[in-house]
Amino acid sequence: MAAKNITILGIDTSCDDTSVALVKIQDTKYKILSNVISSQVKLHAKYGGVFPSLAKREHQKNLPAVFKEVLEEAGLLTLGGSTSREISREVEPLKIDFIAVTAGPGLEPCLWQGINFAKEIAKKYKKPLIPVNHIEAHILANLIVRSRTPLKIEWSPTPHNLPAVALVVSGGHTQLILIRKIGQYKLIGETRDDAAGECFDKVARILGLGYPGGPIISQLAAKVAGEQFSREGELFSVKLPRPMMYTKDYDFSFSGLKTAVLYRVKQGNYDKIEMCHEVQQSIIDVLIHKTIKAAKDFGVKSIILGGGVAANEELRRQFYLNLKSKILNLNFLVPPKNLCTDNAAMVATAAFFHRAEKVKDIKADANLRI
Ligand code: KG4
Ligand code: ZN
Repeated sequence: MAAKNITILGIDTSCDDTSVALVKIQDTKYKILSNVISSQVKLHAKYGGVFPSLAKREHQKNLPAVFKEVLEEAGLLTLGGSTSREISREVEPLKIDFIAVTAGPGLEPCLWQGINFAKEIAKKYKKPLIPVNHIEAHILANLIVRSRTPLKIEWSPTPHNLPAVALVVSGGHTQLILIRKIGQYKLIGETRDDAAGECFDKVARILGLGYPGGPIISQLAAKVAGEQFSREGELFSVKLPRPMMYTKDYDFSFSGLKTAVLYRVKQGNYDKIEMCHEVQQSIIDVLIHKTIKAAKDFGVKSIILGGGVAANEELRRQFYLNLKSKILNLNFLVPPKNLCTDNAAMVATAAFFHRAEKVKDIKADANLRI
């Protein structure tokens, strides 16, 4: 007998994106019915980073509308109305089995907005709530594999790729996690100061490039390959350190890199494109070296990437190349780019594996560990 369809609503408000998604899972079939992300990037850009109280207010404002959009897109809501009260009148009964929400880690005031909204709809529709760890969600986004046909999503609930080492790199985290099986994680290393994404963002601010820094820096860095920078010598006149690259542990440190950029900028006479290229390459070198070292030391089958920085084209490309050239017999998994950055489909996906667990009252935990 085929297992029943399970529909999970996911909510993520851990940082500056308000995201709600609906996914449907049955045996090996997986479908994202809707995955809506309302980005606050433009609002925070003038601060060069996320402003928590502003983000909190925006989540509160956006959640009912994003929720409604998801229901509409999934075909569960066809009438008008945008306030929570109007919505609740219109979607009775709601065809959802579980409501999943990020409980942490993240910005505490932001997390609470998602949790309170999830509790409200869970109570209204009498649906069970599942708290989700945001880091685990970034890792499990790898189960949502985009096949060659752009819109087809494949799903492998029992990955043959384990044990694995996961590198979660985002604006708030840089962690190496050993995964024996889904739900069984061990944090083996992490950043001692800034996260890799935070480093991209801070460097972009120093260079006056805007926010978020990762996508802007990577776009500029790509120009180094262009003709105007083909003269060797002049090209790499900016040389930055590779912090903690050769230490024996699995930890990282990126605040010194940001400081090195600051000093070099103060010296003057540098090119922004070269600087972007060198910063990105420094981050990539350290991330790849430490991750491969961990994978070898722990004898795993796969390297798994997740988090916003994993959307970086060069990081993805150089990981592939390194694994290939070193003839390391390791699988390499990375989610589609839109599932690397924050989204609620990954939250709903992670909840699938925790749906049988007993849940006490859900509280926001800014420092929740995996
Ligand atoms: O996972 P995420 O969306 O949010 C957090 O949980 O933090 O990651 C956001 C971070 C930002 O620091 C952003 O600059 C970085 O991911 N990022 C990138 C790229 N796209 C986003 N960094 C490098 N290259 C990219 N293409
Ligand atoms: Zn994230």
